[in-house]
Amino acid sequence: MNTPILVTGGTGTIGRRVVPLLRAAGREVRILSRHPQPDAPGVQHVAGDTVAGTGLAEALDGVGTVLHLAGGAKGDDVSARNVAAAANAAGSTHLLLISVVGADRMPIGYFRAKAAAEQAVAESGVPWTVLRAAQLHEFVLPIARGLARLPLMVVPGGLRFEPVHGDEVAARLADLTLGAPAGRVSDIAGPDVLDVAELVTAYTAFHGKRRPRVPVRLPGAVGRAYRAGDNLADASALRGQRGWPEFLAEQAASTQAGLPSGVRPVDPLRRARP
Ligand SMILES: NC(=O)c1ccc[n+]([C@@H]2O[C@H](COP(=O)([O-])OP(=O)(O)OC[C@H]3O[C@@H](n4cnc5c(N)ncnc54)[C@H](OP(=O)(O)O)[C@@H]3O)[C@@H](O)[C@H]2O)c1
Repeated sequence: MNTPILVTGGTGTIGRRVVPLLRAAGREVRILSRHPQPDAPGVQHVAGDTVAGTGLAEALDGVGTVLHLAGGAKGDDVSARNVAAAANAAGSTHLLLISVVGADRMPIGYFRAKAAAEQAVAESGVPWTVLRAAQLHEFVLPIARGLARLPLMVVPGGLRFEPVHGDEVAARLADLTLGAPAGRVSDIAGPDVLDVAELVTAYTAFHGKRRPRVPVRLPGAVGRAYRAGDNLADASALRGQRGWPEFLAEQAASTQAGLPSGVRPVDPLRRARP
């Protein structure tokens, strides 16, 4: 049955990579967004706001599967509750959520909201799937760029990331969306765990700069959580293959070619290194 798949956040960094994969699989897609764009073949746009709870009933009409990607710095808990309630009311058969690695461990509002969003989906009454993803390279890039602009490289001790390529997260989400409800699945993260010094050094080396390092200590519960690696995936995670250096190279190539930053064929995922 080719009922449309509703993708909230289908206009975002991850969503705009998932939508073509669902289309390539022959599925009709409906995108809910606060800023709907013109429809394209097989892709319908509807206006709605998942935090305000507007437009959801219309967006869900005739939809079996919902991929809930819409998110922001605040309100992801409210947003998921609204989507979960609307999906249940509409008789949806599969509700998927993207969450973040460490959602239940990091003492930061964004992570707490994601943990609450996971709970809302699990208690929605709709068969569900939750994928926790690490930060995308695009998230880490402005951090590295900002630190690289300083005359000294400020390095918060113990702050590590395992950035993952958006294409690889999108490929995993598309597979899960086209599959059966699976509950909480393995996290997805990038191939390498890198501290801030390594991320910035790779960035500055790529751009032909060097900086003296100044270590700083992140204070409080947040600092302790980062030093403990509570934001990092464990050995059961799927690991993408396109790491930080490859991403920087892609960015440079895209910029030189005057193209929007890179969409390339998706590589297969591999299991975490032991
Ligand atoms: N990027 C990462 O590193 C990362 C890592 C793990 C998990 N995630 C999660 O993955 C999801 C997508 O991330 P992303 O990087 O693609 O985000 P993004 O580029 O910032 O895009 C956010 C998307 O959410 C939509 N949106 C935001 N608030 C909305 C609202 N109130 N109502 C309806 N739509 C709303 C936006 O659509 P309009 O602006 O068109 O309305 C846009 O399509 C988020 O839930 C994020 O928390 C991201």
